[in-house]
Amino acid sequence: DFEPRVVVLGAGGVGKSCLSIRYIKGTYEENYDPTIEEAYDKTIVVNGQPTRMQVVDTAGTEQFHAVISDMYLKPNSGYLLAFALDDYETLKALEPLYKQLRNWESAERQRTGRRFKSPVCLVGTKCDLEERTLARDKLEKQAVTWKLSYFETSAKYSVGVDAPFQHLTEQLVEL
Ligand code: GTP
Ligand code: MG
Repeated sequence: DFEPRVVVLGAGGVGKSCLSIRYIKGTYEENYDPTIEEAYDKTIVVNGQPTRMQVVDTAGTEQFHAVISDMYLKPNSGYLLAFALDDYETLKALEPLYKQLRNWESAERQRTGRRFKSPVCLVGTKCDLEERTLARDKLEKQAVTWKLSYFETSAKYSVGVDAPFQHLTEQLVEL
């Protein structure tokens, strides 16, 4: 059966685990092990219906093999592409992942003959930082170019955390 799954992707240290844990448990765990990959279940309300969904917190992608593992590429999945607002390199690191996703989708469409597009959103993390170097309006433009919704979050102060997960799950349920 179809359980919506949100896969959290992005470079090492951008805050994927802090964001996932804040969303799932409501706490801020600053010293979470970078090597661990974890899946969590949560029941949320989508279109008035209690809906069970899963969050997969992936291990950070190293820059030199920035690929999404095949096990994450599934039709029940949406992708939360995370980068840190104080580090432009982490935004750039998402580009190959995004391309890989879209390539996989078109291969899936060819293979199955079905129209199919996975939900993807772009998330700037650590928006609480004074040292943020990336301006919101530029990022919104980048997101428009990629045809993605854009969100900003702070796991530390619990700002905007639910919105991208809710958005992706709603899109998955509508598929
Ligand atoms: P990998 O698992 O190595 O890929 O890293 P990750 O993306 O899971 O990063 P993680 O969530 O472990 O966060 C890395 C560090 O970033 C944390 O130890 C915090 O110091 C910092 N951090 C995470 N979220 C926030 C945030 O919302 N605000 C601020 N200021 N710092 C954050
Ligand atoms: Mg992590």
